[in-house]
Parts: sequence; C-alpha cells; structure tokens
Amino acid sequence: MKGVILAGGLGKRLYPLTKVTNKHLLPVFNKPMIYYPIETLIEAGIRDILIVTGGSSAGDFLRLLGNGKEFGLKHINYTYQEGEGGIADALSLAEHFVGNNRFVVILGDNIIEKGIKKEVDIFRKQDEGARILLKEVDSPERFGVAEIENGRIIKIIEKPKRPPSNLAVTGVYMYDRYAFDIIRTLKPSGRGELEITDVNNRYLKKGKLTFGVMDGWWTDAGTFESLLRANNLVYEKLLKMEKKK
Ligand code: G1P
Repeated sequence: MKGVILAGGLGKRLYPLTKVTNKHLLPVFNKPMIYYPIETLIEAGIRDILIVTGGSSAGDFLRLLGNGKEFGLKHINYTYQEGEGGIADALSLAEHFVGNNRFVVILGDNIIEKGIKKEVDIFRKQDEGARILLKEVDSPERFGVAEIENGRIIKIIEKPKRPPSNLAVTGVYMYDRYAFDIIRTLKPSGRGELEITDVNNRYLKKGKLTFGVMDGWWTDAGTFESLLRANNLVYEKLLKMEKKK
C-alpha cells in the first residue's frame, strides 16, 4: 500500500498567514502541519510516501523533511503541482508513483486523533474499489457530505447549502489505480477545480465505494477557526498523555 499526501494549494482562506509560506508548513501546536499526515500514514503501516506540493515554498518541504530520517524513513518522494487545479488534479500527479498498487490519500491539513490503521487494514482486505472515512461534524456545509439511506451512502454532495446529514467526508481516501482513469474524465466544478467528491461519486455509482466512520476527533486546518481548533485539540491530547505518565 502506498501513501500520497496532498500539500499544494494557495491556502487562500488563511491569507496573510500563507502569503510567504505554504499552509502545510504552518505550526499546529508544536509541529509543522505536514508532520501530522506523515505520522498518520506511518502509524498505519505505510512507508512509501509521495508528497504533492506546489507554489513558491515547495523547496521548503525538502529542507524541512529531507528524506524523512526524523520519521524513521529512508526516503520521501516529492512532486510539484503547477497552478491550483484542485484535489483531484493534485492526485493525478501521483499516477506514476502509484503504478499498479493501491494507495491511501490524505489531505495535508487533516489531523486525526486516533489514526487510520484500523480502516487501512479493512481496505487491505477489500478486493477493489475505494473506501472513504466519514466523521460527524457541527458544520457539515463546509465539507463534502454523505447522504445516507438504510445504512448506505447514496450520494456525496460537495459543500451543500442544506446538508443531508452531519457526516462529513474526511480528507482520507483509499483507492485502487482506476482513480486515475476517473480523474481523466472529470470536468472542473463551479469553483474551477477537479473535485475529489466527483471521484468518490463515480466509485459509488459503480457500487465500489465502502466507508467507515472515524473514531476520536478529526479536524482540517485550512481556515482560521479550524487551525485554532487543530492547535487546541493537539495541545489537549498531549496534556492528557502527559497526565497519564
Ligand atoms: C476538501 C474536500 C471536501 C472534504 C474536505 C476535508 O474540501 O473537497 O469534500 O470534506 O476537503 O478536509 P476543501 O478543503 O478543498 O474545501
């Protein structure tokens, strides 16, 4: 199983914090944001990792992470996204790296309390298709949202004005290599991006999308509020761990 971390984009919602640096290099409590998805993949047993980044601070990822020695890795792969084509566009750059393997994608600003090992292990046993992770949230209209009927997802809606549930699609996606064939057929959405939600809906239509609901807290960190929340959640988690010692 390979791992892909998407860490491009302009981080417009965090301007001016992102005026001179990439969002994923900003601090979340005591570490740069990008450390968290790297640790999440490694903890799930994934050591072959590609980081897709972009913009003018791309070189800083190399200076910060090098070949991943700090994480016990021998090597990290990097690639560069030109412009801002969206999550699915960034993912298309991973095709040569993924080859015939299956892979886990994690958005570089997603921070997960209890990790994804259990879910990745389920996907390892799934013959084909895709698996996504959902999480109950207070403001589903900020996310992709799953519409559920009789315990099954019937549709995923990107940033719905009237969310059909409070189950957000988190930024953890597990795919087989056909994801790339799907991406080639996508058209840009209203916000001018190739949407990962369209990839997931395509798997859903083929009856090849499974899902799990995440344990523990989950947050993204791409807005001022969610970045503050991410900092607080990580701080509280470390405090609890300290108290247990
Ligand atoms: C993206 C996805 C959305 C998902 C979210 C998770 O949103 O488009 O479906 O729920 O990540 O972090 P964006 O951060 O691009 O607005």
